[in-house]
Amino acid sequence: MKFYITTPLYYVNAEPHIGHTYTTVAADCLARFYRMKDYDVFFLTGTDEHGQKIYETAEKEGISPVELTDRVSSIFKEMWKKINISYDRFIRTTEKEHEEVVKKVFKKLLDKGELYKGEYKGFYCVHCESYVNVEEAKNPVCPDCNRPVKEISEPSYFFKLSLYQKQLEELIEKSDIVKPDFRKNEILNFIKKGLIDISVTRKNVVWGIESPTEEKYTIYVWFDALLNYLSGIGYLYDDQTFQKYWPPDVQLIGKDIMRFHYIVWPAIIFALNLPQPKKIFAHGWWISGKEKISKSKGNIISPEYYIKEYGVDPFRFFLLREVPFGLDGEFSEENFKKRYNSDLVNDFGNLLNRSLNLIEKKWNGFLPEDEIDESIINLSEEVYKKYSEKMENLSFSEGIEEIWKLMIYLNKYLDEKAPWREDNENAKKTMVSVFYGIRNLLILLRPFIPETCEKMAEMLGLERKEIDKFENLKVKYTGRIKIGKREIIFYRKK
Ligand code: MSP
Repeated sequence: MKFYITTPLYYVNAEPHIGHTYTTVAADCLARFYRMKDYDVFFLTGTDEHGQKIYETAEKEGISPVELTDRVSSIFKEMWKKINISYDRFIRTTEKEHEEVVKKVFKKLLDKGELYKGEYKGFYCVHCESYVNVEEAKNPVCPDCNRPVKEISEPSYFFKLSLYQKQLEELIEKSDIVKPDFRKNEILNFIKKGLIDISVTRKNVVWGIESPTEEKYTIYVWFDALLNYLSGIGYLYDDQTFQKYWPPDVQLIGKDIMRFHYIVWPAIIFALNLPQPKKIFAHGWWISGKEKISKSKGNIISPEYYIKEYGVDPFRFFLLREVPFGLDGEFSEENFKKRYNSDLVNDFGNLLNRSLNLIEKKWNGFLPEDEIDESIINLSEEVYKKYSEKMENLSFSEGIEEIWKLMIYLNKYLDEKAPWREDNENAKKTMVSVFYGIRNLLILLRPFIPETCEKMAEMLGLERKEIDKFENLKVKYTGRIKIGKREIIFYRKK
């Protein structure tokens, strides 16, 4: 079984902030989850590097677009490395391979009559890199971001989007492409108002892919960028890889770019006669002081601080635990700290420390041998089943809630059974069972907090491969286990 997952390509006019990190961590968590289920996973992410916005940003900084795109795309890569993003390919839209695919697709659509030449008259928002309808022609501002827009009038190629109105309505009504479900109506209402053909070239933008036409244009940045989902897995140059992974199983986007992904993107796919993505999930925004966190709002929260102060995994954990994935959430350090202290320090860290201390003191660092309590075996199985369903629906926070059922049970079990008491005849069985339960927590939590789980496995004296696959949940370890070196992983924060 294969699993192809993508994130949007991030613009290189800003350095990675919490918003970009959110989508990427979610994609990483899911990619890891499917790898642990033994799927053949392809995880694609990267940077969107053409267009007027990037050109103007470079100009303002007094550098060339190439210098800007090289610098910022490396910053994205470094950040993803720091937070353990396990992508299979990081694509840049300025790569030769991608550029060739965009030209070929353009040519293909031109030859099929899906593109035609006309004249674009209207408004353009550089910030959104989007052609827009404005309400007031006197003082034209973008309906999405409220910035002044430019009036343009130029010859242009158009894509026959209007042709796909009915097909798109049907796709959205009948398939699972739009997720979460509550977004469906919004998109359908928009389509039902009528779709117009969209311009796919720019006459006066220099920083873009050149159109394969006699008279030269640059290809519209969104048309270029969307095609990365095809070029990223070899469309038109590596058929074997393409056939293996197409169509995408999950595409993650923020709710700010739904129209491009639910309307323009599937229409291009129809025009190319390819199967549609199975699911495109639009998540909510992290907000701060009632506004979306973004460079332009000046309320950026950088991941760096949280990584330094709390660690990579607590940061990953918080992003996916705190807010249901489709909804908006307020990012604050207060909430972060609360979550960190209660879930990671109290529940998880303490459970591990108490258990390892006991094994060390009572049994000289060797796990005693006995049978595992049925209740923990059964609960593990039940939790995995529900957790798995939640993860498949991208309900990350609910997935973690399922894991916490086992976490809470184990803490309580340890309290009640009190294996540290001298006269306790069941101490061995209790310890063996709790150990088994913790091992299962490490497997279940691994997609969220991989580094922590690997470190903890070492502390338990287990090999990494023992927590590699969900299949291992059933495995009862055999032989004498000597626990590893102990250390405190989560320190309480005041
Ligand atoms: N380049 C386009 C996407 C092209 S995809 C073919 C773009 N880039 S972007 O840099 O603006 O990044 C947009 C994505 O970043 C959003 O869709 C979302 O996934 C993420 N986020 C940026 N700010 C965000 C928040 N404040 N909160 C959550 N995610 C947001 O649009």
